[in-house]
Amino acid sequence: MTMLFDQLAPALPDRYKQMTDEELQKLAASRRRELGSRLFLPGHHYQRDEVIQFADVTGDSLQLARQSAARPEADIIIFLGVHFMAETADMLTPDRQRVILPDLRAGCSMADMADDTQCETAWEHLTEQYGDTILPVTYVNSSAAVKAFVGRHGGTTVTSSNAEAVMAWAYTQKKRVLFLPDQHLGRNTAYKGGMSRKAMAVWDPLRSELKPDVPGTPLDETKLILWRGHCSVHENFRMQHIDDFRKNDPDRRILVHPECTWEVTQAADLAGSTSFIIHQIEQAPAGTKWAVGTEMNLVQRLAAHHPEQSIVSLNPDMCPCLTMNRIDLPHLAWVLDEAAAGNIVHDIRVDKNTAADARLAIDRMMSLTK
Ligand code: 13P
Ligand code: SF4
Repeated sequence: MTMLFDQLAPALPDRYKQMTDEELQKLAASRRRELGSRLFLPGHHYQRDEVIQFADVTGDSLQLARQSAARPEADIIIFLGVHFMAETADMLTPDRQRVILPDLRAGCSMADMADDTQCETAWEHLTEQYGDTILPVTYVNSSAAVKAFVGRHGGTTVTSSNAEAVMAWAYTQKKRVLFLPDQHLGRNTAYKGGMSRKAMAVWDPLRSELKPDVPGTPLDETKLILWRGHCSVHENFRMQHIDDFRKNDPDRRILVHPECTWEVTQAADLAGSTSFIIHQIEQAPAGTKWAVGTEMNLVQRLAAHHPEQSIVSLNPDMCPCLTMNRIDLPHLAWVLDEAAAGNIVHDIRVDKNTAADARLAIDRMMSLTK
């Protein structure tokens, strides 16, 4: 997905590259003022400060999906986030509302680890093995086409903030769940809900192969089939980082996102969605020390907003999410400038059939987590 958009995306015009930060800020602020309530600007917690300063609301993926659906007065939604989030906003809003992603190259490497063709192949294999006993559940970090596959098969989307409740519902529908594309969120959520890792297996979409999560366990005991996908950012938090803090700075609390591996999540003091992470820090007393295992823009913003606490990244050599970081001030100023002149660049449109099936999955999640 990301490579295709790399080739098709109109490139940022040179004049925005040549402007100073001050000029870009002035331009973005004035265009935003001109557009007034015709414009809604939601921003994900992982976005850069230079664009988040312009956001009307900040939130996690679930909050931003809900907020986008609740702004009928806005003709234009400029989404400060990544491609799958803008697609979800497009599917939740009427056609007349245009959703813009300032840089189409802002994809998600995890979402790219599952496509609808791979889903169909997996479904064929798995239903042959297990019959009609499986419900597909996809993390919102997936393409509209994957969500549509899930919707067609009676399944649901899930986010990191509602994963436990939605998984519990899934098991009232079918004996088994196929969870995609993030094996870690699936494993961490089911384990927290009391499932043994012996009841889990991993589907490798590149080899079309199913293996038990705990080697040697018979596959007929499988209740959760985990898609072999991961977040390339959160996999960079390792046990060695936790061991180092436990040894050298034992008072520091370890707080991670459940896209981290099972081992890291188990060894941490707390694990939860971006909103959960923010909430833990907001309610902690002054002097609390944290090592946080999530995207760098959020960790740095939390550290700046809470000087009364000590907040560092769990991985001292961590880089920000490259695709989230593609949404920068020059791209935002450009699409705002064009929108104020009546031109929509980089709008995200999901075709009607795909959107109708994907909505089945999204609406199920929304109704489960009001
Ligand atoms: P949440 O905002 O749902 O915690 O998701 C994190 C994420 O990785 C978004 O890309
Ligand atoms: Fe995707 Fe991970 Fe970046 Fe989130 S942090 S957008 S899951 S690559």
